[in-house]
Amino acid sequence: LHVKRHSFPTRRSSDLLAQGRADELLSLLCLARPLNAGGATCPLLLAPAMNREMWSHPATQRNLAQVVADGAVVLGPGHGDQACGEVGDGRMLEAEELRDELIAFFQPKVLAGQRVLITAGPTFEAIDPVRGITNLSSGKMGFAIARAAQEAGAQVTLVAGPVHLPTPRHVRRIDVKSAQQMHDAVLPLAAQHSVFVATAAVADWRPASSADQKIKKDGSGRMPTIEMTENPDILAAVARLADRPYCVGFAAESHDLARHARAKLLRKNVPLVVGNLGPATFGRDDNTLLLVDAQGDRELATADKLSLARELVREIAS
Ligand code: C5P
Repeated sequence: LHVKRHSFPTRRSSDLLAQGRADELLSLLCLARPLNAGGATCPLLLAPAMNREMWSHPATQRNLAQVVADGAVVLGPGHGDQACGEVGDGRMLEAEELRDELIAFFQPKVLAGQRVLITAGPTFEAIDPVRGITNLSSGKMGFAIARAAQEAGAQVTLVAGPVHLPTPRHVRRIDVKSAQQMHDAVLPLAAQHSVFVATAAVADWRPASSADQKIKKDGSGRMPTIEMTENPDILAAVARLADRPYCVGFAAESHDLARHARAKLLRKNVPLVVGNLGPATFGRDDNTLLLVDAQGDRELATADKLSLARELVREIAS
């Protein structure tokens, strides 16, 4: 990994690499690394860092295309302020971004070529312009699955309810609020995906109508009656499609996890349900999962949500 940040890059590594030159230590090491020695390959990842004009110059792009054709992987570059004072493409990715790209690079590509659709987070069902019904789902599990699926080589679409989480890298995100909006975003996309993971904690009911203005106290001491109506079941609707993707449901329960998860498997007619205890995991960074399918139950022991998401992705892939 060649990091040149604030120096004036008189020789860009991609140019030296494109020509197969070995007249300095770094390009020599890159040239001498095993490409396929007895099955051992040494990947080469490049993090370009240069001025926007240099980056877009045909000579740079030509050499870069050559280096990529020779098997190198290019991370970034980013966009924004540059050391010279200009603004544009060519910034080295942030250290944290490079770390995540490196970790992702080394994940097994068990979902290469697959398209994965994921719902995550709670939904928000408006009562009036300032109030609504929601739940304690943080979206962390669904976002971790989106990241794990992307790292495993899938093209990922993430339909997210109202959450405060950054979008995993290279994941396409669609923000929604209510269950109906989530349904309307998911249904037209479902058949274009090979896997659907319904992690979202979708509200089962919504107010039959949302007031245009804030509902005021009327002095009676009683809360006004709010008539509720059932929301569409997104997972069941996707599972009913003729060309349905492989569907994974979640069961967030407070008790009797195995029994409720198996009931959901049958009721929603999906091949895999992942059970977890809602109160024990909502908002937390770790979780314990129970995989329930036709073969039986299998627990994934308590771990951070990203590790569990990677295990789940391997399970889905197999
Ligand atoms: O119906 P229930 O909430 O018990 O089932 C939970 C599973 O169904 C989760 O995978 C959840 O994302 C999904 N679900 C849904 N649409 C709903 C309710 C639940 O997709 N309206």
